[in-house]
Amino acid sequence: MGIGADIIADDWHAALAALAWQVDLGATEPLGDGPVNRYEMGDPVRPAAAAVATPVAASVAAPSGYSGAGQDPVAVAAAMAGAAKTLEELQAALGAYDHCELKRGARSLVFADGNPKARALILGEAPGSEEDREGRPFVGRAGQLLDRMFAAIGLSRTSPDPAAAIYITNVMPWRPPANRDPEPAEIAMMRPFLERHIALVDPDVIVVMGNTPLFALTGTKGILRARGGWTTALGKPVLAMTHPAYLLRNPAAKREAWADLLALQARLRDGASG
Ligand code: URA
Repeated sequence: MGIGADIIADDWHAALAALAWQVDLGATEPLGDGPVNRYEMGDPVRPAAAAVATPVAASVAAPSGYSGAGQDPVAVAAAMAGAAKTLEELQAALGAYDHCELKRGARSLVFADGNPKARALILGEAPGSEEDREGRPFVGRAGQLLDRMFAAIGLSRTSPDPAAAIYITNVMPWRPPANRDPEPAEIAMMRPFLERHIALVDPDVIVVMGNTPLFALTGTKGILRARGGWTTALGKPVLAMTHPAYLLRNPAAKREAWADLLALQARLRDGASG
């Protein structure tokens, strides 16, 4: 399968993300369908930004006053997130936020899934290719394991009962190219949105799955040391667990994950606060 010659991206990041996307789809050769005489092409034809824009981003106009250039991305994020009074407004604010390069290479803004009234909020890292395609967090193999794990303690993203439900979101709403780790600057930009997200959902407990959410909420790293332990962030009890993708690669670690799930169940049963 060859890479279509019609993808001419705006800049380096968008080009890299577009290339990674094609590789994910199975492209192995950088060939067009026919020969191209570049001397006859004149000015490059640039596709509309919508070719790589997210559906949500495309439908939400940037609020006036957020032109971008010369502004501190974290301060802009804080202003936009702080103005959001509802989850819908927060999602729209993220869609209008233009300082994160990841947005340019992503298909979808992956905001959240599950019951916003759930007592437990599950925080992952970032969408992968399947999440990017579907626009929902944790729908790939790791997501299927996540669903089975929480089902084992009676929690589900589809339950209407807040006591039996989970709400799932990620630190990053856009897929990083080739699933690389989000950079600290990207996490810092998303932190105001994350804070607002958690404030609006107001869960009783937060479960951070993996290093990126652990770092985003607590500023510390080392999930293998932290897992199974409780800490407090943003005024909420936070349980650290290993990421389901790690458990898929290291099935022996599922035993510890089960202990962590039981700790979560006990905390919810005993009534979690602070
Ligand atoms: N991994 C994550 O951390 N989040 C997702 O949504 C999917 C995979």
